[in-house]
Formats: sequence, C-alpha cells, structure tokens
Amino acid sequence: MRSKIFLAAGIILLLALIPVSAMASPEPTADRLTDLEKLGRFLYFDQNLSEPAGQSCASCHHPAFGFDDPESDLPVSEGVIPGLFGGRNSPISAYAMYSPIRYFDEAQGLWIGGQFWDSRATGEYLGDPLADQAVGPFLNPVEMANASKEQVIADIKASKYAGLFEKVWGAGSLDSVEAAYDQVGLSIAAFERTSAFALFNSKYDYYLATCIRKGGDMNDCAKGVGRIAKKVGNGIFTNQEWYGLQLFMGENNNDGVLQKGEGAMCSACHAADWTLASDYTLPVQVPAWAPAGMVPPVFTDFTYDNLGLPKSTHPLLVNAPVDLGLGSIVGDEAENGKFKVMTLRNVRLSAPYGHNGYFTTLKGIVHFYNTRDVPGASWDPSEYPDTVNVDELGNLGLSSRDEHALVEFMKTLSDGDWRR
Ligand code: HEC
Ligand code: HEC
Repeated sequence: MRSKIFLAAGIILLLALIPVSAMASPEPTADRLTDLEKLGRFLYFDQNLSEPAGQSCASCHHPAFGFDDPESDLPVSEGVIPGLFGGRNSPISAYAMYSPIRYFDEAQGLWIGGQFWDSRATGEYLGDPLADQAVGPFLNPVEMANASKEQVIADIKASKYAGLFEKVWGAGSLDSVEAAYDQVGLSIAAFERTSAFALFNSKYDYYLATCIRKGGDMNDCAKGVGRIAKKVGNGIFTNQEWYGLQLFMGENNNDGVLQKGEGAMCSACHAADWTLASDYTLPVQVPAWAPAGMVPPVFTDFTYDNLGLPKSTHPLLVNAPVDLGLGSIVGDEAENGKFKVMTLRNVRLSAPYGHNGYFTTLKGIVHFYNTRDVPGASWDPSEYPDTVNVDELGNLGLSSRDEHALVEFMKTLSDGDWRR
C-alpha cells in the first residue's frame, strides 16, 4: 500500500489543484441503491434471521454508532440467546470496506487486510473479506445462533424480500441452500460497500475539504502541515483539537521525553494517508468533496500489531484462554498476540476499546500508549508478552494535557459533525 501511495504522489499533486466544489454538508446521499445492495440492506437489518428471532447484524453494528455495538458497558457482545457472549469486543464496522483481501507484504514482512480483529475472514473464499465475514454470524452460537444454513435460507424464503432475492440471484436460487447462503454473504457485503458505511462527514473531513479548497496540498492538509492547513485548522478546530492533530501525526522516538517537534506516533499505524480508489481491487466509496478518485485517510493501514494490552479482568473474560489473535489464524508464532489496527473514524462511539475491551475510555487507552513502559507504572502484565511492540509506543513522554488533546482530536473523527 505504502509504495503505491508513493507512486501516486505525482497524480496527487495534480489532483490537489482541483477545487472542492460542493461544500454543503455531505449527508448520507439518498443514494439509489442497486437491487443487490437493497437486498443486502434487508438482510442486514432483518431480526428474523436469528434463532430465536430478535437479533440482526445491526443489533451489534448500529448505524447510529459507527456500525458498532451500542452496548458500551461490556467488553464483549451478547448473542441472541441471553447470557451467551462472544470473546471479543465488537469493532466499528463502518469503513471496513477499505480493508483489502488479506495478503502478506513481503517487502514489509507484514500481514495486511481481512476482516475481524484476527483477519480470519480473509476474502479468499468469496472474493471479498466482507462477504467471508458476513456468512459467519448467522451460524455462530454466541451471535445469531442458527443451527444450519437451511434455517437461515428458510427464514429468507418466508420474508417479504424473498422475491427480490430471486430477482437478484435468479429464479429458484433460494432452493440451493449452499449457493444461496454464500449469496447472502455477497449481498450483505455489497450493502456494506455503500456510502452509508463511509460517510466522511466528520469535523475533520470538513477541515480537510476546506483546507484543500483554499489551495492546500491534500497531504499537507491531512497531516496538518503548512501555512494553509494551520490557518484553516485554527479556524475550525479548538486549540486542543488542533494541537491533538499535530501530536497524532508527529513522530516519537519513545524515549520518554517529548522533544520539540515530536508527536505521539499514532499515524504510524492509524495512517492519515490518501489512497487511490483505483488501487482497491473491490469497489470503495469516494466522498463527493474529495479530489476525484481519492479516498481520504481512514486512520488505519490494516496491519496487525501487539500493543501489549493487559489480559481482561472482566468476569466475562477473566477465565478465557490467552487470545493469540493473528498468530492462531496464520499459524505463525511470530504473529501471536497481534490484532488489527482498527479505524479511528467514529471511535468516540465505540467504547470500550481494544480487542478485549480492556479500556473503557479513550483517555485510558491513550494513557496506556504513553506510559506502558514507564518504570514504576503499574499496568497489569501483557496478555502475550513475546511479540509486544516496544519501538513505537510505551514511553512517549506526553503530559496529561497532551493525552487529553489526542482524545479531543479523535473525537473530531465522528461522522455527522461536518461544520459543527
Ligand atoms: C452478537 C453481536 C454481533 C452480531 C449479531 C454481528 N456481529 Fe459483527 N462483530 C461482532 C464482534 C464481537 C466482532 C469482532 C469479532 C472478532 O474479531 O473476532 C465483529 C466483527 C465484524 C466485522 C469486522 C470489522 C473489522 O473491521 O474487522 C464486520 C464487518 C461485521 N462484524 C459485520 C457483521 C455482519 C454483516 C453481521 C450480520 C451478518 C454481524 N456482524 C453480526 C459482533 C456481532
Ligand atoms: C504500532 C502501531 C500503532 C500505533 C503507533 C498506534 N496504534 Fe492505536 N491501535 C493499534 C492496534 C494494533 C490496535 C488494536 C489493538 C488490540 O486491540 O489489541 C489499536 C487500537 C487503538 C484504539 C482502539 C480502537 C477500538 O476500536 O477499540 C485507539 C483508540 C487507538 N488505537 C488510538 C491510538 C492513538 C491515540 C495512538 C497514538 C498515541 C495510537 N493508537 C498509536 C496500533 C497502533
């Protein structure tokens, strides 16, 4: 991904000169959905597709919460059967469309892409990680708890959108259970690639669009660099938010002292780079305000890392075995304990934080990044110590005020706040 971004630099320079014409609030365009996308929407919101009825995808990924679980008191989500819980925190599923089919980047030596905290929905089965993901929850006993694919397809047959299903996938398609079940996954994935899942209308986006419109270089604007970015940024953000943005983007040698010009290193993984829509093999959204064909930063590079999160002490997780994350999926000990870098768009709404929901607040997780390795800090031991990243975090030298500014900046990534 990074090398492609580099290659695209020339094009980006040209595109930066194109003015952003429409500055009206980019509402979720009352997009004309295709029949396939409409079918996906029916499936996504249908509470009759669980056993017993009552839970849909949206129950744990609600549109008003960045498509995350509205339940923020628990580190994990409750399935349709009361008292049964999954083993991980439900992530924001908006912006998940940008995660590519999982691959191993030889040059960087990194796994990139796929869905879930551990990448297990790779996209190799149905050609789209979102489709591979979507066929899971219906049969998962701690989620929608159907006993079989037959049961799911029978419910769809009895639904009001059964006709639409056969219109999209062919007459009689609901009679071949295996194929129809995969078509359910593909339909949901198509819906998850619509603009509802990539609104790009946060306060940060408003700043970014304005900065570009005023003639700022799109990369400088994204990172808050240069005269135009500064002028626009100061007019739109509070002082704290703007300072938080600077910290977020800045490098840090992790030696416990915040030198002048240093930041908090966040964008090293929660990438604030523009990408080219044409570099994605699967369809992705580009907001109307962005320079043609360019995807604004999604605040992840879809790699995996071990932050050294402590094992959860929550009663629902305290007795769970050590979670090996990516390592258990790719069968490589060197990847044990690594979890996906999640997008930070809408992160304000997605408490608790981390794959095991260890942190209940943003301030809590930022304080962890800052002080994990500070002598005398009394963090519980890492769940899987062997692969913990000690280069880019752990001793950042931030003050409490700095930590707070980072939190304030992250809150500007919430969709719907355009021009507020
Ligand atoms: C009971 C709550 C629950 C239900 C119901 C549920 N999910 Fe999830 N979802 C989760 C949890 C928890 C995870 C993370 C699990 C993991 O990583 O192992 C997740 C992960 C995801 C992801 C991956 C996001 C990413 O960035 O990796 C997507 C996409 C998603 N779900 C979509 C769906 C769809 C589509 C449905 C319906 C077919 C659905 N979910 C039903 C709880 C739920
Ligand atoms: C070395 C890569 C890396 C760096 C640097 C990094 N992060 Fe992360 N971030 C991750 C990974 C990986 C996760 C998920 C870890 C897990 O759950 O085990 C994560 C998770 C998060 C989450 C929780 C997201 C959620 O949905 O639960 C927040 C918030 C966050 N990071 C903010 C920051 C901030 C602020 C900084 C800078 C101080 C930062 N990150 C620096 C890799 C990184």
